[in-house]
Amino acid sequence: MPSAAPAAAPPAAARRRPLLLHPAAKVLLFVAALLPLAWYVWGAVANTLGANPAEALIRGMGDWTLRFLCLTLAVTPVRQWTNTPALARFRRMLGLFAFFYGCLHFLCYAWLDKDLLLADIVTDIAKRPFILVGTLSLLLMLPLAATSFNRAIKALGAPRWQRLHRLVYATVLLALLHFFWMRAGKNNFAEVGVYAAIVAVLLGWRVLNAVRARRARR
Ligand code: HEM
Repeated sequence: MPSAAPAAAPPAAARRRPLLLHPAAKVLLFVAALLPLAWYVWGAVANTLGANPAEALIRGMGDWTLRFLCLTLAVTPVRQWTNTPALARFRRMLGLFAFFYGCLHFLCYAWLDKDLLLADIVTDIAKRPFILVGTLSLLLMLPLAATSFNRAIKALGAPRWQRLHRLVYATVLLALLHFFWMRAGKNNFAEVGVYAAIVAVLLGWRVLNAVRARRARR
């Protein structure tokens, strides 16, 4: 009897799909996204955050806000480059974690730097341009977070929702400017350069795609 030919191995992207579609994948991402917070809380309790724990907390939360913003922006390009549509289901959670860490960053600043004194916070925002730019960036994230749920998408309609969510580009650019301005005072641009390069690739890819799509429509 002729033996059946061995079935060809599924491509790598197809093998990744069941893992990414598993309900536990979102739970894992949720837990992983809370690890930076756990690390800083543990550091504050165990007093291992260095000579200036308040500064370490404020900066750490700021770093993670920017990292989650970059991860959110990376979902669509990576999904297309690797032919892994299932990645799309993690974008909303990553975006909400960017907002969550942004709120913690602001709270740490307001509490540890300004003793929760509203007048001092407002004066600082008006006085220091890098704080103003950070505040604008966080404020732009508000409508994004508020409309990240299915009911909001339905109420707004997909085209309007998509237009509104382009605010994420302004958010990340303002966040970069905030970081650049803060480090400019210390003449230390190495890290800012790395984030700027990542954002340039992620936004550049979108611009290129938009130009190609427009040309194809002509
Ligand atoms: C989406 C919004 C924001 C992002 C992505 C962001 C990100 C960052 C980053 C990456 C840093 C530098 C951390 C480091 O040096 O490793 C930073 C520092 C800082 N940010 Fe933000 N930030 C945001 C909003 C805000 C807001 C709303 C405020 C206050 C109103 C603020 C106040 C500060 C302060 C006080 C520092 C530390 C400055 C210093 O230590 O000299 N940021 N932020």
